[in-house]
Amino acid sequence: MSNDLILAASQVRLKAYVPYSNFAVGAALRSASGAIYVGCNVENVAYPEGTCAEAGAIAAMCAGGEYEIVEVAVIAGGDRPVPPCGGCRQKLAEFAKGPVTVTLLATSGAQERTQVADLLPGAFDLYHLTAGAEDPKA
Ligand code: THU
Repeated sequence: MSNDLILAASQVRLKAYVPYSNFAVGAALRSASGAIYVGCNVENVAYPEGTCAEAGAIAAMCAGGEYEIVEVAVIAGGDRPVPPCGGCRQKLAEFAKGPVTVTLLATSGAQERTQVADLLPGAFDLYHLTAGAEDPKA
């Protein structure tokens, strides 16, 4: 894991909009081109409308015209490395074509390394979608 990705995640975490949870998260992705895309969590008074840091970084990558993640870093406060939520695991899996290392960090300095595939074993993917596609009324 390169320090530039961790630094980018740490810096964007400071931009998080978290008036409801006070739990700021920063995410940085390296795309196939080598570019870094970042995102922070953005909360909303209508709670379910809030978005996670990972989702923001993925949206930035797509807006940049890229659709493949090769490396991820996510950082939040506390003493234990932040585990991405279930929805973000599925979102990351969508753009992880090969093995993708994910570094999970805490502001305490604690960190652990995993893979997108290990974060979401048995993921629903395109195979299931196409193999199970049928007209339910036919
Ligand atoms: N959050 C993220 O941004 N990423 C995660 O993977 C876990 C949760 C945010 C969502 C919400 O703004 C706050 O953390 C508390 O759940």
